[in-house]
Amino acid sequence: MPMIAGMSAADRQNIRHDEIPDSGRQFNYDGAQRGFHWTMAVFIIVAMMLGIYASFLPPGTSPRKELLDIHKSLGMTVLVLVPLRLAYRFVVGEPPYHAALSRLVHLGARLGHFGLYGLMLAVPISGYIYSAAGGYSLPWFGLFSWPRLLARNEALARFGEDIHFWVGWSFVALLCTHLAAVAWHVFAKRDEVMSRMLPRKQRR
Ligand code: HEM
Repeated sequence: MPMIAGMSAADRQNIRHDEIPDSGRQFNYDGAQRGFHWTMAVFIIVAMMLGIYASFLPPGTSPRKELLDIHKSLGMTVLVLVPLRLAYRFVVGEPPYHAALSRLVHLGARLGHFGLYGLMLAVPISGYIYSAAGGYSLPWFGLFSWPRLLARNEALARFGEDIHFWVGWSFVALLCTHLAAVAWHVFAKRDEVMSRMLPRKQRR
């Protein structure tokens, strides 16, 4: 039986799938990776919806500020979680696919996941710059305020706002692509990709 625990991520990815006992477990993301994925998926999707909705409300009104405070709290939570998730991902690696994907599909998945991680950092960082340099509130669910590491600077705030807008919409687009890719695996390919991210009992 080939070793899984203790092997490097690259070695695990290179194992031929017929060399691995078919117990299933090692082909799935582990509990911590699934926990990161689904918790952050909820935080990110809710933060996106609140940010988009609040942007249509008149500036200076109380519902807009309250929704944006939750949006910022979720965004800062994501910003704290991403380095932890990336560190864990770096150490544990990606589980091998039970039935190998074609080179092109695997490359597409790699690039897509890389882009999602990049945007999970770029979107809250640009939002932080926008808020901190603009002198806006930086609350965390009403419990405390994040430190303002930037002096007030109108030009920097406008720059942060522009970047936040563009990377935010790029994130929405890449996320839609991610969901479309998952739907393609589930409904067209009917392969095991979705089950890799589900708790064991719910595997298809
Ligand atoms: C809510 C609907 C979602 C579904 C059904 C879903 C499904 C999946 C599945 C099945 C995988 C495994 C892909 C594979 O093994 O090749 C995956 C990976 C991933 N998903 Fe999602 N996802 C969702 C939302 C999100 C959101 C909101 C994000 C936020 C950015 C996200 C980020 C990622 C990342 C970064 C990976 C790669 C994990 C890694 O290899 O480290 N997903 N997703």
